[in-house]
Amino acid sequence: MKNKIRLGVNIDHVATVRNARGEVYPSPLKAALLAEKSGADSVTIHLREDRRHINDNDLKTIIRKLKVPLNLEIAATKEMLNISIKHKPPFVCIVPEKRKEITTEGGLNLNFNTSFIKKIINKLKKNKSRVSLFIEPNIKDLKKAKQLNADCVEIHTGKICNLINKGNNYKNELNKIKLAVSFGNEIGLEVHAGHGLTFKSAKILSKIQGIQEFNIGHFLIGESIFVGLPKTIKNFKRVISK
Ligand code: PXP
Repeated sequence: MKNKIRLGVNIDHVATVRNARGEVYPSPLKAALLAEKSGADSVTIHLREDRRHINDNDLKTIIRKLKVPLNLEIAATKEMLNISIKHKPPFVCIVPEKRKEITTEGGLNLNFNTSFIKKIINKLKKNKSRVSLFIEPNIKDLKKAKQLNADCVEIHTGKICNLINKGNNYKNELNKIKLAVSFGNEIGLEVHAGHGLTFKSAKILSKIQGIQEFNIGHFLIGESIFVGLPKTIKNFKRVISK
């Protein structure tokens, strides 16, 4: 029997659409509450340094009203640490951030800024947040994540999703992810996956034993334009539970 994989719904791009016109709609808060009502196990927002989508007020209002856990994605900076300490999100995922990137391009470099990352993890854990590190699927980074005392890792699935979308051979990348998931579980890390997931790639990856959570945003919000958020969430839940 397969374990239930949790679905985290990333609503950043509701804010992207709002900000494209400098309006107050569509509302990320409304999206967060509708995602919760439609079966999302958690809601993810990435408060970027440049506030290009989610802003501080979104964080404040969403965390107040949401009943399922809020997963706050942050860069490893002092500002983001202070914001997280103040708002106490149940889940925090530390991600790399570059100002010019369109989206998060790769996993964290755990050999850079290591002592600060360790300090952030410990402070957040003391503050009762579950801490995850967004990493590439490799054993070295998993070992490092464990050494740094993270609760979980989120495997960056961008590469395999690109291969799948283009109809290219993705077996090597799939094997890498399989190895990473089983090694992560073996050393006591909870393993999540996210970035670039569609129905097709989520279905392929959901067959791997040991992934406990998917975080999905861009495709899910895009699909919602056509069939609505509740139906898209239900469809994703069906895809990852089969
Ligand atoms: N997980 C992490 C850590 C991310 O940074 C992102 C993108 O913000 C996602 C998951 C979701 O990726 P996508 O929007 O491509 O589904």
